[in-house]
Amino acid sequence: MIRLLYISRAAPTISNEQVQDILLSSRQNNPASSITGILVHGGGLFMQVLEGQEQDVLRKYVKILDDPRHSGAEILYISPANNRIFGKWSMGGIKSDPLQFQYISKLRARRLEVIDASTFTETMREFAQMLRDAK
Ligand SMILES: Cc1cc2nc3c(=O)[nH]c(=O)nc-3n(C[C@H](O)[C@H](O)[C@H](O)COP(=O)(O)O)c2cc1C
Repeated sequence: MIRLLYISRAAPTISNEQVQDILLSSRQNNPASSITGILVHGGGLFMQVLEGQEQDVLRKYVKILDDPRHSGAEILYISPANNRIFGKWSMGGIKSDPLQFQYISKLRARRLEVIDASTFTETMREFAQMLRDAK
């Protein structure tokens, strides 16, 4: 199994409905290839975590890259994984504000370092907690 995290720029004209459409088709498609994860949207950006078998995740990522609803995708983290963080979600959806997105840029800043699985898990946990606290 691998876990992949990328960030991309949402198309400037993207609507909430279009984001919902992405989540709907993800939830429809992902179970067939046992992919789980979350999609965060806000501040003109997407951030997505994809977890699953290497071939499945990479194939899905390449497909997602072609989608005109976003551009400039950059992988921030990719690593073998023994277990799923988002096992309950075929694709969880989170609406985030730009401030919370700044948190993700912490990961981005560390992109050139090797981020190990536990650091990643810890960072995602803190991020999820921040989102909960913000509500
Ligand atoms: C940011 C973003 C994330 C996406 N995530 C997924 C995903 O996790 N799973 C998926 O099947 N499609 C995802 N899509 C949609 C795909 O690009 C594509 O539109 C969809 O898989 C096509 O589905 P279809 O073959 O049922 O028409 C995503 C698109 C964007 C822009």
